[in-house]
Amino acid sequence: VVLNYFDMKQYYNLMILIVMTAIFVSICGCKNNHREELAIHPRTQSLYQEFHRPQFHFTPESKWMNDPNGLYYHKGKYHLFYQYFPDSIVWGPMHWGHAESNDLLHWKHLPIALFPDSLGYIFSGGAIVDKNNTSKLGTNDNPPIIATFTHHDIAGEKAKTNDFQKQSIAYSLDGGYEWIKYAGNPVIPNTQKIKDFRDPKVVWHEPSQKWILVLAAYDRVKFYASANLIDWEFLSDFGVEGDKRLWECPDLFPMKVEGTNEYKWVLIVSIQKNAPNDGTATSYFVGHFDGTVFKSEVENQEWLDWGTDNYAFVTWNNVPKDDGRILGIGWMSNWQYAQIVPTENWRSAMTLPRELTLVKSKSKYSLHGLPIREFQTLRGASTALNQLEIIGEKVLEGSFSASQVELDITVNLKKTTANSFGIKLQNELGENILIKFDKREGKMFVDRTNSRKHKFSEDFFKNIHSAPIAFEKEKMNIRLIIDAASVEIFINNGELSFTSIFFPSKEFSTISLFANNGTFNIINAEIHPLKSIWNKKEEEN
Ligand code: FRU
Repeated sequence: VVLNYFDMKQYYNLMILIVMTAIFVSICGCKNNHREELAIHPRTQSLYQEFHRPQFHFTPESKWMNDPNGLYYHKGKYHLFYQYFPDSIVWGPMHWGHAESNDLLHWKHLPIALFPDSLGYIFSGGAIVDKNNTSKLGTNDNPPIIATFTHHDIAGEKAKTNDFQKQSIAYSLDGGYEWIKYAGNPVIPNTQKIKDFRDPKVVWHEPSQKWILVLAAYDRVKFYASANLIDWEFLSDFGVEGDKRLWECPDLFPMKVEGTNEYKWVLIVSIQKNAPNDGTATSYFVGHFDGTVFKSEVENQEWLDWGTDNYAFVTWNNVPKDDGRILGIGWMSNWQYAQIVPTENWRSAMTLPRELTLVKSKSKYSLHGLPIREFQTLRGASTALNQLEIIGEKVLEGSFSASQVELDITVNLKKTTANSFGIKLQNELGENILIKFDKREGKMFVDRTNSRKHKFSEDFFKNIHSAPIAFEKEKMNIRLIIDAASVEIFINNGELSFTSIFFPSKEFSTISLFANNGTFNIINAEIHPLKSIWNKKEEEN
């Protein structure tokens, strides 16, 4: 009967129209959210101005990035290499991308340093300045830079050979711009056929006058020693009884305990599963390394950052002695969702470079982390607020952007009566992030479950994240550094760090302070607008 209204030609036309519409709707549907965002977002789409593009965190110019690699300082420049896939915004055949900086804030992108070759992809690792030319790959007048990395043989992986990860080196004779792969690679073969055997990083061990290499071997690390960075001798293993999680990207270095002359060794390891807030995170041990064996002197492994988004954190080699800081940087993402976050031109940023200090309190050693002091040079004209008492919610007013700002709040905990209190970032769509402190629970929370209507990943939005906090002191300091797609939270001068990324469908436009059932008592608060690092032309660096 229906066909009576049409001749056959009209019927076919209608069917074609319906099918075309369905295809069109389904194609647009997948990207629809993103298109809407681009339409409502004020920034243009020019380079570094794209929606969600961090304004003062390192990002690759385009395409996929993960771990920081090969960090060293040489001749006035901090070098940063990173796991890079130049052909896509998801993980793929790994290269080492490269950038350099005078101040660890403004970066100059450089050509790719290491490309995959017949031995495989170029996985993570470190780099050191071989000042005394122990490798003989340079000269005494022109010492080489040596990069240590894992060759990951994809064919071997597919064939399940189990020895497809091997350690190799490359050297540079011009400070790190041109790299030559060592002809005798690999320098540490995988004789035991350990499936996860990677991420070699090297440190100089003064007492034994040897290079020590640490790498991750599934649920533990392995130490090796060498006099020339080429011939390596196995020393020992270190792991945690009963912990079968996958370890990655270790780092080992001596550190002076704040305010003393005591030295300890710090071993950093990134954990690939079941971190405190799920997924991946960076942990550490403080202990003793005698040139052969590492012994932890802390009961449990500790977390360098309690948030979900600081992975593969490693430190710079060869920071000038008169500076003496331990400086490091992490990948600001999590393997649970890194490849599906809604950015189009590039994927992933690094954390702010951080200075680590080792603090002893009540016989416990812990690592504190803060953004490098140079970061303060990005502050614009600041606003100070004194003696605030928040009841309910108060929007912070001033000339700053809610997604490019630093807040430094000193809380009077004695006078704060609220059950919970905190800071809320929000946009006009009602999407928000809550940073909440709860004295009774002894915890802080970061709730990004409503940070975006369209949920691009179950894991990203699933849980409210938390960290234990001791509220027994009279005062507490909360420092928040907010960029287009991240918040880094530092409590009590770096006692606790908490990094979280987010992707609202429209920029966060307001920041408010809130108190639930009582008061949030603030001694003082400072609001610092932050400048973009990309305003400055890269060539000026
Ligand atoms: C850590 C990691 C490393 C590996 C690299 C590969 O994020 O899995 O263990 O070398 O990424 O890109």
